[in-house]
Formats: sequence, structure tokens, C-alpha cells
Amino acid sequence: MSKLKVGIIGTGAIGAIHMDAYKACNKAELVALCDISEAQLAAQGNRLNISQRFTDYRELLRSDVDAVSVCVGNALHRNVAVAALKAGKHVLLEKPMAMNAKEAAEIVAAGVKARKVIQIGMVNRQRSQIQLARNYVEKGLLGKIYHIRAVLIRRRGIPGLGGWFTTKAMSGGGPLIDIGVHWFDAAMYVSGLWKPTRVSAMTYAKFGTPMKNYRYVSMWAGPPKFNGKFDVEDYATGFVRFGKDASMDFDIAWAANAEDAGFVEILGDKGGIRMLDSKPLTLLTEHNGHMADIAPKHTEVNVFQTQAAKFLAACRGECPPAATAQEGLTVMKLLDAVYASSKLGKEVDL
Ligand SMILES: NC(=O)c1ccc[n+]([C@@H]2O[C@H](COP(=O)([O-])OP(=O)(O)OC[C@H]3O[C@@H](n4cnc5c(N)ncnc54)[C@H](O)[C@@H]3O)[C@@H](O)[C@H]2O)c1
Repeated sequence: MSKLKVGIIGTGAIGAIHMDAYKACNKAELVALCDISEAQLAAQGNRLNISQRFTDYRELLRSDVDAVSVCVGNALHRNVAVAALKAGKHVLLEKPMAMNAKEAAEIVAAGVKARKVIQIGMVNRQRSQIQLARNYVEKGLLGKIYHIRAVLIRRRGIPGLGGWFTTKAMSGGGPLIDIGVHWFDAAMYVSGLWKPTRVSAMTYAKFGTPMKNYRYVSMWAGPPKFNGKFDVEDYATGFVRFGKDASMDFDIAWAANAEDAGFVEILGDKGGIRMLDSKPLTLLTEHNGHMADIAPKHTEVNVFQTQAAKFLAACRGECPPAATAQEGLTVMKLLDAVYASSKLGKEVDL
């Protein structure tokens, strides 16, 4: 079978990782790149010796690629993904799926119309601990799941202060939409609780302004652009109901006067899982009359290569996408509800 021809739109930090993932995969041929930055395009094109280079994504979409990875900033996800689907390309779309649920719904509709694959870049799903956790849930080792705790706190971790990450019109929001999206997806994917019904939440912005006062040790996507903006939250906390039987509380921060922390705990009446911690997954349960923590040994995989391989398999019709557009839309609805609840100062229905 001939290899699928793939293009990358947006060759920045994550675009380069997608490029390497396809290069490592023998079922794809990475043939085309697009970036509005000619310097970035040249650097990445030369690095992997890719000759088809475009500064306008619409031109790349007129080429004979079968599939694209959409790796531009959040504000462009909807337009680029919809254009790619209309052009008959399969789409691996980076997270967050879009700026909000309305845009995400437009992508879903375009995918249905085009009958092409959309896979959302929820790369954490490929971590072997998440696959293991899901397997435990499917086998009933947790019993009835009733609560989830989702915590991701960076003491000082605002990315690219003053750049697109901290400018609402370009990012859609702060840590909630940037990193909380991974935790919400992981929580719902593993638990199978895909029907959030009500949210009560608060968001805060305490550290990003004035920018010159922000103290930090390192900055992803830095250095700060002091002539830029910070008009997003740096902390989001709240409570989600999944009907009357299950719930989730969350704490997501780019910056807080709190210790760095990161985990998702899924509590069931027979067992609990603690995952996405700095240590291996643990099954907290009872064994032979005693409380027992089971930490199964497992090796991690290259998550971006696994994600790319699953996307290509879906494009070939061998399996469903590893993270569907419909699931992406549900996550976006939940994010919208968090922001709405915080703005209105009350619990909101989804
Ligand atoms: N899956 C993950 O864990 C993960 C990690 C980092 C980023 N991301 C997501 O990936 C996306 C990109 O993030 P990043 O950190 O790589 O950003 P980045 O700024 O490093 O890269 C974005 C690239 O897009 C290019 N670009 C901008 N407008 C363009 C256009 N109209 N056409 C073509 N190219 C254009 C920019 O020049 C830049 O090179 C974001 O949505 C982000 O949330 C996901």
C-alpha cells in the first residue's frame, strides 16, 4: 500500500514534533510544510529535507497531500481545519480543538460533510498509564466511579508572557484551555463520563499583570513581550456534575502561590486510580483484607509517534480516530461552561 502523503501547517514548537513523529513512521511520507514565517519554514524544511514549502496554508491544501497536522495557534484552528476538510484532507488537529464550542461544532460539521477523519491532538491518551487506567476501568476494577480530582498547578509557569498564549483573542483563554484541556480529556476518556451537566467555577488573574512584576525561573515560549497583552486567567477552579451520580473538582494554574502539583484521581467504590502524577500510575484499592497500592510496571511509549500512527491508521479506515471530534466538542463545551460560570458568578447548565 502506498504511503499517505502528509503536510504540516504551522512548523513551530509542536509542528516540529509532529514532523519528527511522521518521519519515524513508515506509513507516511512527510512531503509539505507551511508557515507564515519564512525563516521557520526554511529551518524546518532544511532540517528534514522537505522541498514543498508554503507560506499560505490554502496553497498547501491545493497540493496532493492526503492528510495534514494543524499545528498553528488556537485562533486559527477552526479556519485551517475547516479549509483542510473542505479540500478533502484528513486532519490531525492540535489541542485545544478550537477557541470555543461554537467553533468546534463547525469543525465537527465540516468533518461530517467531508467524510474525512478528524483526530484531536489529545496526546496524553497515548501514554501507557492512561491506556492502562482505561483498561482497569473497563475491567471494572474501580467499581462505580463517583468522583474525579483533576489538579495541575504550576507555581510560576505562564508561557510566552505577552505573546499569543496570554492574549485572549489569540488563545481563547489561559491555563484552562491550554493545559486544563488535557486533564479534562484524560479524566473523561478514562472514566467514560462524557456527559457533564452542570458547572460552578471561578477563574482568577493574579500574576500576569503588570507584566514586569512577574517573577519566574523559566518560561516556555518566552521571553516575555512587554508590549504584548495578558488578558486571560492564570488560575481556574471549579466543580462539575455529571448528572446526579458523579462529579469532578479541578484546580488548574499557570501561576499560584502553591506547590507545583499534577495528577488526576478517579475514585470508584472498589478502587481508585492516581495518574498523570510525577510517579507511575497507582491503583488504590483493598487486597486480602488490607488497603493496597498497586503500581504496575509499564514502559512509556513515544506518545507523538503513537498518536501519528493511530491517525494514519484511522485515515486508512483501519480504526476510529484516537480522539474524536465529538469528544473534542464535549471538552470545549465544558471549558465554555467554566468560563461562563465564572463570568456569571453562578452554576451553569451545559
Ligand atoms: N499537544 C500538546 O501537548 C501541545 C503542546 C504545545 C502546543 N500545542 C498546541 O499547538 C498549537 C501551536 O503551539 P506551538 O507552541 O507550536 O506554537 P508556536 O507559536 O511555536 O508555533 C505556531 C506556528 O504557526 C505559525 N503560523 C502562524 N500563523 C500561521 C498561518 N496563518 N499559517 C501557517 N503558519 C502559521 C507560526 O509562525 C509558528 O511557527 C497550539 O494550538 C497549542 O495549544 C499542543
